[in-house]
Amino acid sequence: MFPLVEKHIADLKPYAPGKTFREAKAEYGIQDFVKLASNENCLGPSPKAIKAMHRAFVNAHLYPLEERENVEDKICEYHRPHHLKAKNIVLGNGSNELIILLVRALLSRNEILLNGWPSFLMYRTAAKIHNRQEIAVPLTSDLKYDLKTMLEVSRGPQSDQLKLVFIANPNNPTGSYVTQAEMRDFMEQIPKHVVIVVDEAYAEYVTQSDCAQSISWVLERPRTVVLRTFSKIFGLAGLRLGYAICDMEIADVLHRIRDPFNVNCFAQEAAKGALDDTEHLQASKENNQRELFKMYASLRTLGIQTTPSQGNFVLLHLNESMPEAEEMIRKLLSKGIIVRGVANYDLPRSIRVTIGTSEENQKFLSALSQILTS
Ligand SMILES: Cc1ncc(COP(=O)(O)O)c(C=O)c1O
Repeated sequence: MFPLVEKHIADLKPYAPGKTFREAKAEYGIQDFVKLASNENCLGPSPKAIKAMHRAFVNAHLYPLEERENVEDKICEYHRPHHLKAKNIVLGNGSNELIILLVRALLSRNEILLNGWPSFLMYRTAAKIHNRQEIAVPLTSDLKYDLKTMLEVSRGPQSDQLKLVFIANPNNPTGSYVTQAEMRDFMEQIPKHVVIVVDEAYAEYVTQSDCAQSISWVLERPRTVVLRTFSKIFGLAGLRLGYAICDMEIADVLHRIRDPFNVNCFAQEAAKGALDDTEHLQASKENNQRELFKMYASLRTLGIQTTPSQGNFVLLHLNESMPEAEEMIRKLLSKGIIVRGVANYDLPRSIRVTIGTSEENQKFLSALSQILTS
């Protein structure tokens, strides 16, 4: 027998996104669903981004490079205090693509990826795609990255093989965060050859002043990469645009292996519009802050514990007297609410809920309350 693919490819499971509206409608016969499952911006894209996207249509026959008026420059301007140069920015078809490219480029055979768990699934998947070994250090009991133990691993018997570390800050699916002091200790003590990728997909939602913001580390410690995305607060998940902030040596490697036209013209134009729209950014932050606090309070009244979140989502922990997470998800679906199960993150009694508009959250909470009291 000649197998079609190697075992590590055959063993991969396709990414399971949250249930789509179409699937939910077909299954439950409900027309009007509220989707709080994929950490999208409930306020939608910025009107400036939509306008910019429309302007891109007439040039859709051109390869995107022709149209690129340096999104990278605009991104540097957005991060002005850090004095970045366009050469420090690498765009990706979502930050997911950059995660895969980083693993492909940097992790050789026998080298190890170090990761916290549960954390964003894509780091693990990228290691599996490339048949590379992952060491996953469990989060602490309060679901935070255990950087101390990760440091111990870096000094342990496989120390020579360690090459790449992923830290999601804030973390998905927990919403927990790494403090500036914790990050400093980690950055200063981890061996210098190790590349540390800090995934800041939710950075703009952060409200805690002691949460680490890692862009300054890129200049201080060249083997540091920060990932950002337009999929979350910028409300452009459907366009697929993320970026890496990194030293030019790493940027150069990523440019060599990426698809030359990996980011389409609409995404590039929309991103520039979105970066110009500080009002939309502010409104999105404020909605999240206000609604997250309301959500905590309402869940507390229902007897549901939550992990404090710095993202646009919250992790709920169902207690023994409540339906199992899977059953709860099904019951919520039957009431028109789509949320995300996290059993694949080894959190079988928890549910992740994206913060929506006040109206959406209210619908979720009243459905939840009905289920708990029925
Ligand atoms: C921590 C984290 N990183 C990256 C991503 C992927 O973002 P993108 O849409 O840019 O690929 C997500 C999406 O949920 C995420 O939670």
